Amino acid sequence: MDVRVNAEAPQSPQHVEIRREDYRPYPWKVPNTRLKFTLGLGKTRVQAILDVEPNAAAESSDVLCLNGDELTPLGVWVDGSPLDSWLMDGDDLLIPLTPGKHEVGIDTEFSPAANTKLMGLYASNGMLCTQCEAEGFRRITFFPDRPDVLSRYRVRMEADKAKFPILLTNGNPIESGEGADGIHWAEWEDPFPKPCYLFALVAGDLKANRDSFTTMSGRKVELGIWVREADLPKTSHAMESLKRAMRWDEEVYGREYDLDLFNIVAVSDFNMGAMENKGLNIFNSAYILADPDTATDGDFDNIARVVAHEYFHNWSGDRVTCRDWFQLSLKEGFTVFRDQSFGADIGSPAVKRIDDVRTLRMIQFQEDSGPLAHPVRPDSYIEISNFYTATIYNKGAELIRMMKTVLGEKKFRAGTDLYFERHDGEAATCDDFVKALEDASGVDLTHLKLWYSQAGTPHVTARLEQTGGKAVLHLRQSVAATPGQPVKKPMAIPLKTALIGEESGAEIASERLILLEESEATVEFDNISEPALLSINRGFSAPIVLDVDRKPDDLEKLAASDTDPFARYEAMQELMLRWLISTAKGETVDPQPVIRAVGDTLRSNQLDSAFKAEVILPPSESMVGDRMDVIDPAAIHAAREQLRSVIGRDLSSELANAQRGGGQPGHDVSAEAKGARRLRTVALGLLAAGDPANGAKLAKAQFGAADNMTDRQGAMMVLASLEAPQRKEALDAFYARYEDDPLVIDKWFGVQAAAQRPDTVDQVVALAEHPKFNPANPNRLRSIAISFGMNQWAFHDESGRGYRFLADLILKADKLNPQVAARLVPPFGRWQRFEPKRAALMRTELERILSTPGLSKDLYEQVSKSLV
Ligand code: ARG
Ligand code: ZN
Repeated sequence: MDVRVNAEAPQSPQHVEIRREDYRPYPWKVPNTRLKFTLGLGKTRVQAILDVEPNAAAESSDVLCLNGDELTPLGVWVDGSPLDSWLMDGDDLLIPLTPGKHEVGIDTEFSPAANTKLMGLYASNGMLCTQCEAEGFRRITFFPDRPDVLSRYRVRMEADKAKFPILLTNGNPIESGEGADGIHWAEWEDPFPKPCYLFALVAGDLKANRDSFTTMSGRKVELGIWVREADLPKTSHAMESLKRAMRWDEEVYGREYDLDLFNIVAVSDFNMGAMENKGLNIFNSAYILADPDTATDGDFDNIARVVAHEYFHNWSGDRVTCRDWFQLSLKEGFTVFRDQSFGADIGSPAVKRIDDVRTLRMIQFQEDSGPLAHPVRPDSYIEISNFYTATIYNKGAELIRMMKTVLGEKKFRAGTDLYFERHDGEAATCDDFVKALEDASGVDLTHLKLWYSQAGTPHVTARLEQTGGKAVLHLRQSVAATPGQPVKKPMAIPLKTALIGEESGAEIASERLILLEESEATVEFDNISEPALLSINRGFSAPIVLDVDRKPDDLEKLAASDTDPFARYEAMQELMLRWLISTAKGETVDPQPVIRAVGDTLRSNQLDSAFKAEVILPPSESMVGDRMDVIDPAAIHAAREQLRSVIGRDLSSELANAQRGGGQPGHDVSAEAKGARRLRTVALGLLAAGDPANGAKLAKAQFGAADNMTDRQGAMMVLASLEAPQRKEALDAFYARYEDDPLVIDKWFGVQAAAQRPDTVDQVVALAEHPKFNPANPNRLRSIAISFGMNQWAFHDESGRGYRFLADLILKADKLNPQVAARLVPPFGRWQRFEPKRAALMRTELERILSTPGLSKDLYEQVSKSLV
């Protein structure tokens, strides 16, 4: 059948901007959706039957507009009769309908194997799986692909039993059977109405790690983690994490699981981390598979975090979903906050907070100060996939954390209870969330709402003035202009603050919550008995950049005595940052205060190893760059290397102790054993900076003796940046040992792309030609491209070859998978921050990308915005 085009409709421009203020409810309701899949890798046929009826809450319409993407209708039926009068409007299908209830049927057909975008239904390793968020369902069938259209699904799957013995979708299995010619089928029903982005289907030769969980009301839930048979032994950590998360959500938020079945499937080709489809989460295998021989402690933690995150979405995402994609942070910011709290509860809260803040600073702060800056609740987008950002996720989580800080534990919980109760089964907005917190607590949160709409990281300066028994804190805030927001209002900034006695090291003014709401404020402290040190933004109570007027001496004292562990870490970071910035600017500064503070930390009997490791690790080169007006990557690199080598030399015996310490075997995943391993590799890196030849020896020994991936990869990472024969030996041995394990080979690529060497550009160029490099697999592509883009010194090689390499790779990836390609652009977005020569080279590459014919809208949006 040929495709008819709506002649009257204007030829839709290629890249339209969608605006939040244009939101209108959908004219139709779709109470029921029946889908019938005839599954095959090369060809899959889908028959969709939708019950539709007018939506009383919307303006009525005589057309049913259904979204499609690369689909052609093979047939359309209305109320059982074939219909000829449908039209195509661009990718969308328009079906004329008289008012009232109708049954609409549509047949489509497509090739999962040809789907390299990995959105919709696609093939991975011989199996079939789906990814529908945000707008992938429209690649499966024509449908109102928007989160505010909720429908009940009944799904029939039919496939060759030998190739696809396992058939899974959302909800509960109802019936199954076998047909002729080796065909089998299964029919499932999901009792919970859901938006189509939560639809999922999996067909393949999979085996399950099965377990069960009894909910707080005594219902038994069958749990299954589905993988290829050979991977079954690597699923136990994910299963344990799932059960812990289920219990935690009952205890902390009162949320109980609601189906008889909860399934997780691991797939090797996946655009993001994982997906919270109702009752059938689909995961990037990197966030499921682990054992001590192949996964690091960091991988184990990430698995616990992502398994919990997706599980928590069952309430914050599935039971209560988003009205439109501008509200994405409603589910993502809140769910990240929930997974962060879970992580703090099952591990060390201080170390977890340090880790989360590091991610925020490295990724979100850069985003917020560059051309791609956008509010937590954006006002417009061209491609929604580009808005799955650290701002929506991590800054969104900080915003929820601030609300909780202001309300306190109890009122916050009353607020979330009311939110879930009030909006269960609905598509809600960020305003609805705040309203529920306000109504339950009686506290007005209007002042915090600006964090949803105003982009940019606030800068706060603080100065403490002391006379006699009185101390006065002077605060001042500003927010720099961001795209589309030239003038900013002052934000409400909750600052947990205390004063620490300079001599006693004790809290002489105990912690209080200061809410800075105006551009300037002063706060008084009385009865101050000794010289006071300012401990402010404790626990990182607000996501801001803080500039405190403090001498290195004060920072050194705070690093040793602040009663808030996070503030202690901050004092040390600030001490190192200041030294690094001054040195990068060509000033000569005494490193002794830093050395003393690092030495005291290492020698302390009170601090645990994990905390020590975080504290003594100098800030990354890009974090130093972020705090400078003009970034000179070579000068920053030289300064940081100088600091690392002084620490390595002056504290060699303390570091050697730390590197040797912790005799626990590699399968011991207690906090203590993990901390010892973390400290071991951080110490090894510093030792190698102080004495590269000895460092290479130590690293090779650690590599050879390792009985776990954390120590092995840590040693290889240190060696990767060195110029020593052991480097190649380790890399070759690692490759030979893990050749057939894709997740570990990703590490092998990543470590080399992250190496700090003058020839890293040559190395990545060669790696991209390696037979195991495959740009169609997102994990493999990212193993080079993300690690290299974040490697400031190497990526910003003077020659501009780093830029050219990454731009070429982005263009190549765009042809296969625009969503993943567009996520590689941000390092280029910082071009205006660099010295003029590099800035010009970066700009040239962005322009070259933009002038390439046939660019996806994903890439077009990121590149065109980066050039402004
Ligand atoms: N909702 C998923 C999460 O848990 C992310 C899915 C995003 N997918 C995409 N293709 N943009 O965070
Ligand atoms: Zn999420």
